[in-house]
Amino acid sequence: MILFRSLCDPLTKNHLDIIHGLHHTYHQDIYVVATQPLHPIIDRLNQSWLKGLSYVHYGQTPSSIGLTIEDDASLIQAMETIRNGDYHGLPMWYIRYLNRSMVYYDQMLKHYLKPSRYAHTYRVASLAVDLAKSHSVDVVKTKQTALLHDIAKNMDDDRLQSLTQQYDPSCLYQPKPIWHQYAGAIFIQTFLGITDRQIVNAIANHTTGHVVSPLARIIYIADKCDPGRDYDSSCLIALSKRDLTKGFLTVQKESEAYVAGQHDQSTNP
Ligand SMILES: [Fe+2]
Ligand SMILES: [Fe+2]
Repeated sequence: MILFRSLCDPLTKNHLDIIHGLHHTYHQDIYVVATQPLHPIIDRLNQSWLKGLSYVHYGQTPSSIGLTIEDDASLIQAMETIRNGDYHGLPMWYIRYLNRSMVYYDQMLKHYLKPSRYAHTYRVASLAVDLAKSHSVDVVKTKQTALLHDIAKNMDDDRLQSLTQQYDPSCLYQPKPIWHQYAGAIFIQTFLGITDRQIVNAIANHTTGHVVSPLARIIYIADKCDPGRDYDSSCLIALSKRDLTKGFLTVQKESEAYVAGQHDQSTNP
């Protein structure tokens, strides 16, 4: 096994090329530890599961490649851009890794969401994972979808409109609170390079519920039954854990009744 120490977090194109070269040459598993001046490698190793494993160390020092991270503003900016959820220009295999590991999702969610929406997102993810386990649905994919489902919710109006238009201009005729599901679906394809149709469709329908896949139903239920909302959803959650279809249909019915009630209140004050 080879341990590759990178000076950058996330990795640069140069580092990715080196890692690919090492893999081709030695045919060994390569473990990458990203380290920066503020986080010396020894700290990372002491905190990580790598501690105690034997490894061959392949690393670089700033002087060996003529680089001083602190002075390189453009490199720091490039790393920040990736952490905040823009994977443009990265190799596809690395994009897949970034999404599957969700390594920078938390920073991206903090970047895009207001604190209350951020907290809602993690509650939805936790409930969605519980439901996925009950129904033998891919837990990693479920968590990934749940964490991304409201990524466009707090975007400014111009960006929201532009992304919704990219998805389908006719969606702009739908009520504005729904737009974020379409904008989110385009965002994850364009900026995160996600191509999985199940994930895209689940996000593109998480508010309207016009979906049939188990993953999409789980996201819909978890979103509507978020324990942080102002009603008791425990019976709906229990039903959904026993029977996903019945749970979905019941949640959908109650949600439609709730929306109709809201509409009545606003038209008949
Ligand atoms: Fe939403
Ligand atoms: Fe939500």
